[in-house]
Amino acid sequence: MSHRLSVVDANTLRAGLQTQAIGRPLHVFDRVASTNDVAKALAEEGAPDGTAVLAEEQTGGRGRFGRRWASPLGGLWLSLVLRPRRPATEWSCLGFAASVAAATAVETVAGLSVRVKWPNDLMLEGRKLGGVLVEASGAYVVVGIGMNVNLQREALPADVRALATSLEERLGHTTDFVALTQEVLREIERFYHLVEDDPHFVMEQWVARSLTVGRPVRVVSTKESFDGVAESVDDQGALLVRTSAGLRRVVASDVSVRELERPQR
Ligand code: BTN
Repeated sequence: MSHRLSVVDANTLRAGLQTQAIGRPLHVFDRVASTNDVAKALAEEGAPDGTAVLAEEQTGGRGRFGRRWASPLGGLWLSLVLRPRRPATEWSCLGFAASVAAATAVETVAGLSVRVKWPNDLMLEGRKLGGVLVEASGAYVVVGIGMNVNLQREALPADVRALATSLEERLGHTTDFVALTQEVLREIERFYHLVEDDPHFVMEQWVARSLTVGRPVRVVSTKESFDGVAESVDDQGALLVRTSAGLRRVVASDVSVRELERPQR
């Protein structure tokens, strides 16, 4: 069963926030095209570090590679404006921090164990629960988090449905949406500080939840495709893939990676 976040809920959400900067301010909308776009517009107008945008529905939600991201009622569609102190070359770590933060929050609030798939997919029992989209631009970065919370798979388009899941589907009941959102924001703040202080630790946390590291993978880009074994990730979040020709460093913006059942020869 899905629900609407009433004005009162939005105020309850704000009142119970346990953060210093993340979610301050928190803008809540019934429906927008994409919370990432709203966050970008706010960032361009000078919105402070930590500004959050939450929408009950997105009509033009975006995933990686410009894919459509189905965003019906009942999901967590959230974007943050961040202005990291570290140089932009190190911002890729933020997507990994956000996915580990979201996974940790689900564990705390819903008691389900969430794994991550490279680069930033949130996985529940082999199905996709959510994802993270990082869009950097000059002085700020927008981190968008999408998660299927209180919705049934039937609310998703047929092509997505086959591979997706939601908290409601796994639990058999709804989750306290306000409590989950507050916890996601709290964990993002914690991991945001960790990214600033110790990106290596953040990546270690990501590896501890990873479904990708140690697995045979196929790497596909517009230029080439190759198979190997995902050996590790570096502190910038690049995937290090062992191939017959040596170790290859794979960057998330360039390629898609899919797990293989067994090594291909
Ligand atoms: C992916 O796995 O491809 C990333 C999906 C990211 C979706 C979120 S929902 C909130 C934010 N707004 C968007 O348009 N996209 C992100």
